[in-house]
Amino acid sequence: MTIYYSLFTNHESRITVHESRITNLGSRIKTKTNRVYNTPYHTQDLSQLNFLVTGGSGFIGSNLVEYLLKFSAGKVRVLDNLATGFKANLDEFASHPNFEFMEGDIRDLDTCKRAMEGIDYVSHQAALGSVPRSINDPVTTNDVNIGGFLNMLVAQKGSASVKRLVYAASSSTYGDSTELPKVEGVIGKPLSPYAVTKLVNELYADVFYKTYGTATIGLRYFNVFGPKQSPTGAYAAVIPLFMQALMDNQPPTINGDGEQTRDFTFVENAVAANVKAFFASEEAVNEVFNVAYGDRISLNTLWSELKVISEKNIEAHHGPDRKGDVRDSLANIDKAKKLLGYDPQFSAAEGMKITWKKFSSQ
Ligand SMILES: NC(=O)c1ccc[n+]([C@@H]2O[C@H](COP(=O)([O-])OP(=O)(O)OC[C@H]3O[C@@H](n4cnc5c(N)ncnc54)[C@H](O)[C@@H]3O)[C@@H](O)[C@H]2O)c1
Repeated sequence: MTIYYSLFTNHESRITVHESRITNLGSRIKTKTNRVYNTPYHTQDLSQLNFLVTGGSGFIGSNLVEYLLKFSAGKVRVLDNLATGFKANLDEFASHPNFEFMEGDIRDLDTCKRAMEGIDYVSHQAALGSVPRSINDPVTTNDVNIGGFLNMLVAQKGSASVKRLVYAASSSTYGDSTELPKVEGVIGKPLSPYAVTKLVNELYADVFYKTYGTATIGLRYFNVFGPKQSPTGAYAAVIPLFMQALMDNQPPTINGDGEQTRDFTFVENAVAANVKAFFASEEAVNEVFNVAYGDRISLNTLWSELKVISEKNIEAHHGPDRKGDVRDSLANIDKAKKLLGYDPQFSAAEGMKITWKKFSSQ
């Protein structure tokens, strides 16, 4: 590894080396821990509205549930089969009178229909995430991510109450396009079965809108991270894995040279995008939007900054490149700003501080 690690003891020098290419996180760190879910991203009276969050036991879904209940939503129903989610993510809401948990599988159409009964807005987060998982088991990923998504659209089509379905799309849809920053209209070919499923979601949403008038909005998330993201299992994401390594005082393995870059997005920004999309003007319907912070850092920088935040000095190991991964990722978020009024409040650095604080106190 490069100059990067050899300079770690001299933080200022390292910053000089990298600041032309990537953002230096350390200098921008501010603590907003007490601001999490304190900002309303809506102006509507949520108490009059009912919401369904599929995949609500998972990372992003449970954060959205937290927001909706905090702002007194009428009903918040979760549909989840607990494949990769955890009931513990919802423990704090279990006795909330407006909260409802429905254990079920989106691969079953009747379940999707029942879940939508009496619902005004759907946030569809349920899917099998992870590029490596999809490479190991493309059939199940396809069944859940495409078959399940199709069921949700069919259920929406037949629903008398649902006004809009906002769904989790993915930056993986940019595939082999090398253009940076990523703009919604320019995509490449998918690099993994997972990316295929997320692209097909967008195609189905578009066809359903044109054929049946189902109102959907797709959110292409870019590397979302934050509290409640699981560090366990073979397919855990990089930030919780790094944080777990710091907790265990163990070196993490960075895939490849670590100079690949990502637009890491704190989860409250993704929650805000969902809320904005529920209530955005008709112009935003049947559109897809990048949901990111609009900045990128390398994995080496990420590890380095986490060491600063955690005050631990552990050198990472490097492994082989991972199949199906894109090299660089950076979003242009102008479209979401314009049509959704999306305005991400948390930088990656701020998000990492908040996440580490929660992670290390568990
Ligand atoms: N986290 C990210 O960085 C990221 C990036 C791009 C897209 N996404 C997408 O965002 C969504 C949420 O991701 P996450 O990071 O919260 O993942 P997660 O795995 O924590 O949450 C997904 C949830 O869906 C549930 N689920 C899976 N299969 C199901 C099924 N057949 N029926 C019902 N529920 C099912 C899981 O149990 C889990 O609770 C997913 O669609 C994912 O593909 C996430």
